[in-house]
Amino acid sequence: MCGIFAYIGKRKDASLLVIRGLKALEYRGYDSWGIAILKSKVIPIQPGQKSKNSKQRIIIIKQAGRISDVSESNFPDSNFALGHTRWATHGGVNDINAHPHFDCTHRIALIHNGIIENYDEIKKKLLDSHHRFISETDTEVAAHLIEENLKNIKNQEEKSRQDIFLEAVRLAFNRFIGLNAIIVMDAETESFIAAKNGSPLVIGKGQDENFLSSDAHALLPYTKHVYFMEDDELILVSKDKILAYEAKTKKQKNIAFTSLSWNLRSADKGKYPHFMLKEIFDQPKVIEDIISDNSKQIRDFSKLIKDSYGTYLVGCGTAAYACLSGTYLFSKIAGRHVNFAVGSEFGYLVDFLTPKSLVLALSQSGETIDVVEAIKRAKQKNAQIGALVNVLGSTLYRLSDYKVLLGAGVEKAVVSTKAFTAKLTYLVLLAYSLAGNIKRGKQELRSAIGAIDEILAKQYLDRIKKLSKALCRKDHIYVIGRGLSYPIALETALKIKEASYIHAEGFAAGELKHGVIALAEDGTPCIAFLPNDETYGASLAGAMEMKARGGYIIGISFKPHSVFDYYFPVRDCSVASIIPSVVIGQLLGYYLAVARNIDPDKPRNLAKSVTVK
Ligand code: BG6
Repeated sequence: MCGIFAYIGKRKDASLLVIRGLKALEYRGYDSWGIAILKSKVIPIQPGQKSKNSKQRIIIIKQAGRISDVSESNFPDSNFALGHTRWATHGGVNDINAHPHFDCTHRIALIHNGIIENYDEIKKKLLDSHHRFISETDTEVAAHLIEENLKNIKNQEEKSRQDIFLEAVRLAFNRFIGLNAIIVMDAETESFIAAKNGSPLVIGKGQDENFLSSDAHALLPYTKHVYFMEDDELILVSKDKILAYEAKTKKQKNIAFTSLSWNLRSADKGKYPHFMLKEIFDQPKVIEDIISDNSKQIRDFSKLIKDSYGTYLVGCGTAAYACLSGTYLFSKIAGRHVNFAVGSEFGYLVDFLTPKSLVLALSQSGETIDVVEAIKRAKQKNAQIGALVNVLGSTLYRLSDYKVLLGAGVEKAVVSTKAFTAKLTYLVLLAYSLAGNIKRGKQELRSAIGAIDEILAKQYLDRIKKLSKALCRKDHIYVIGRGLSYPIALETALKIKEASYIHAEGFAAGELKHGVIALAEDGTPCIAFLPNDETYGASLAGAMEMKARGGYIIGISFKPHSVFDYYFPVRDCSVASIIPSVVIGQLLGYYLAVARNIDPDKPRNLAKSVTVK
């Protein structure tokens, strides 16, 4: 995944800008960081020499650890810098493997997001040409290949240094197999070249300064004029120009910048100790905004589903559980069969798609590669593509024929919360619109907002904190639910796993007696979702079966019951009850993490959007 930020322009504090940019992108990868800075070295005046001259060179500062722990002082002045915060794929987490990487001459520094699948074969050839490699990464191979091209490009005397640099990068980039984004910094031409195929890259245009970033929101403090790079594109960025080329043909192309309407405020955590808690508290407003602003969009999208011959909801992680919830919501509310598949598997299930099929991609980031690849496969079958995403200009947003922006605002905590309930809100409204009763959908969702407000009240939170302290040393927690509550049980277990590292397992309550109950012993915590619907009785039976074997039952329900050892009341708001119910699951994950002294915003080994396979 990795976070990338770069600056070139009039300001002298480029390294500071880059460090701050990386901090804003840390949720994309946080195991190591690095920055490359162009430094001028003043050479003393020789006798008879008129003016001072200086030689420019790139220095790299990099190390294992979090960029958020880095103090912003002691970085040299410069107007040209490039930075990276890493989520390791090739090579362990250490100072050497951190990005950026040099070529042998230190003329260029390079950062990378993605995987160069054929790096080994390229490396062998470069070793034969006496290149010296320092790290274990696939990335360093790219720097040396560009260096090799810089040496071998013919008729250099007829070309500008910029052209030679561009060609050297282009030839190298076209050799890579896999999904990659690179930025190369060149001391000689004092310019960047960015190339992309898969992983996201955004260009920010300022007054006599330009920026590059993995995510547009990190550019907000400096500019709102952005360009979302397309696949197989090369962009040359210097202080005063931005030139775009097709990577395959080197043909120059015109690009159009968009102006973002996002506000900066939504990207910081304000009074909250963590983004995860802030984003949990954002949910009532997010849901209200969706209910009040999007009726036409909802009607158009539900008509799309109505007219399609088969609708498939596709997503990964938390988004996959929103998709699964969608299958229950459309069946229950609209009597409509809608399919679901996890993104990484859907690519193997596309053979039956026709041009009348509708594939809906659900994704917070809009960049999850497993979903992007699945959608590309579905497009090859000419299926219609829709996207419910939270990031304007993201790959899935641009790939799709029909787009819905979730409007949840920037979600920074790796553990997704408000983007999930925003997806559920859209799915409830789409299903009710399909059933011709959107008014009822809005009523139930407004009741759900009220139920969330009751849960976010201090007294209620204190009860969640108390339980979290009691459970935080447990090794296993089980979560059960039936029907609409089954995906909510899965999502609750995922929140607990992602945030607190406790092994939590969610499953359909009916499956309990077909195996999992063997794991039950004295004090085994079991969270049971018992809403006021047709699943109540059977789920209660499941809770009782666990209790009979020593289970400690945590009931999340519209009414108390003696089987509950710990009870969380949830207002009955019909099908929309899944939303306040999952908010309790989110808060349990959060407070379990806090009770275990774990940073819930940056869980180990995870990143916010997964752009590698
Ligand atoms: C993972 C995140 O990387 O990707 C999860 O840690 C998320 O929180 C999953 O649910 C899918 O991401 P997206 O952006 O496609 O919804």
